Amino acid sequence: MVAASQPTPPRIVVLISGSGSNLQAIIDNVANGEIEADICAVISNVAGVKGLQRAEAVGINTHALNHKEYESREAFDVAMMRQIDDYQPDLVVLAGFMRILTSDFVRRYEGRMLNIHPSLLPKYRGLHTHRRALEAGDQEHGVTVHFVTEELDGGPLVIQAIVPVQTGDSEDDLAGRVLKQEHIIYPMAVKWFTEGRLSFNGGQVAMDGQPLPEGGLQLDTRE
Ligand code: GRF
Repeated sequence: MVAASQPTPPRIVVLISGSGSNLQAIIDNVANGEIEADICAVISNVAGVKGLQRAEAVGINTHALNHKEYESREAFDVAMMRQIDDYQPDLVVLAGFMRILTSDFVRRYEGRMLNIHPSLLPKYRGLHTHRRALEAGDQEHGVTVHFVTEELDGGPLVIQAIVPVQTGDSEDDLAGRVLKQEHIIYPMAVKWFTEGRLSFNGGQVAMDGQPLPEGGLQLDTRE
């Protein structure tokens, strides 16, 4: 008797630079069966970070490629692509990967690379998003999951979580409130992608075959 072959789960490679709490949220959702996928590898541009330890603790392959050891951004990205492609991923997840990517890198994974950015894009691309939201006196802030395109933090939106800014919030208070939501919406987006429900083709993000509005889906956590 020949056993029926099991379909192979989608393959994910996660890129990090630091703590890896978003990585942990995805690991946990794979472990509890919410996401059916194989996290084949975690790659960091900084050695020894907590995110790599989180991956090692559950037996995921890890690699550290120190960008400072490469003569150019292009050379580093070529090395990253080689490392990533060894795993033939269906999805590349940027989870706190603090590097600007070359066009060649972005094009290689376009349509199968997600990023999470701690602001309500298109507001506050780049760094220090929580501080900038506080300085601007914003009453709402949040986080966005988006597909990666060549425009920095500019790719099409998948889902945003809106969080309230509270009187007297410090940068850390706000960052903590946002991070909590990151751990909810990033696994959601990864799940949709791995289930084949979420796609980005021909410049259009679609969910279940229906184009998403420009602002993506929204999770409003304000009361
Ligand atoms: C998160 O705030 C994410 O939005 C940003 O970098 C941070 C990474 O945190 N891109 P962690 O490493 O997942 O804990």
